[in-house]
Amino acid sequence: MTTNIIAHRGASRLAPENTMPAFKLAYKLGADGIETDVQLTKDNIPVLIHDEHVKRTANGRGFVKDFTFAELRKLDAGSWFSKKYTGTKIVSLDEFLQWIKPRPLYLNIELKNTKIDYKNLETIVYDMLKSYQLLDRTTLSTFNPVSVQRMQDLFSDVEIALLTSRRNRNLVHDAKRIGANALHIKYRLLTPSLVDACRRKKIKVRVYTVNRPIKMAKCFALKTDGIFTDVPDLGLEQRKQFHQ
Ligand code: G3P
Ligand code: MG
Repeated sequence: MTTNIIAHRGASRLAPENTMPAFKLAYKLGADGIETDVQLTKDNIPVLIHDEHVKRTANGRGFVKDFTFAELRKLDAGSWFSKKYTGTKIVSLDEFLQWIKPRPLYLNIELKNTKIDYKNLETIVYDMLKSYQLLDRTTLSTFNPVSVQRMQDLFSDVEIALLTSRRNRNLVHDAKRIGANALHIKYRLLTPSLVDACRRKKIKVRVYTVNRPIKMAKCFALKTDGIFTDVPDLGLEQRKQFHQ
């Protein structure tokens, strides 16, 4: 079994996170998949951005939920990273799915609905994936267990992952109980027994955010299903050396 190399927010070490240049670069470098974060604008358009507030990754101020999509599109989401990316726009989920559809990439859409529990975010994202016929290569993930439960009640044809950074002896059992079919864990939670428990319960296990060779090696040795990395090129190179 091979550990998938998943570009975290795209190839986010080399290009501004969650933008088309970062996604295109991840594809060009040969990543197996892409992870991205989704939130809703004031007019209910799903957009790809990590923080609830725009200020870290765009040249504006305010919460994503208080901008219309047209207003968000006026912001520059590239110049904070490097002058070279001036003029880069915040991407809608629709634009991203259109781009990814003909490319054979695994897809992880992380719903950012812990601090703000956007109404109907799950259904809006699911319906769009369904219309692009992308459900069979997508995982929907969230740190919000209530949202995992909602998705498990509503959808039966897409993989659902619980994200967590908290130590908990019953983690796999708890994830399974609320209906997750995958667990996305912070690297420090990774142990052989956790991976074993996931195997026994038949749930996938992927690890974030793995940027160092030594940490990558542990994930490869334990044969986790995937790693999320800001440096997919390094991940691919290390995996090759590991003969995986
Ligand atoms: O989905 C894995 C990882 O992205 C979770 O944390 O904060 O980088 O979205 P964060
Ligand atoms: Mg994320």
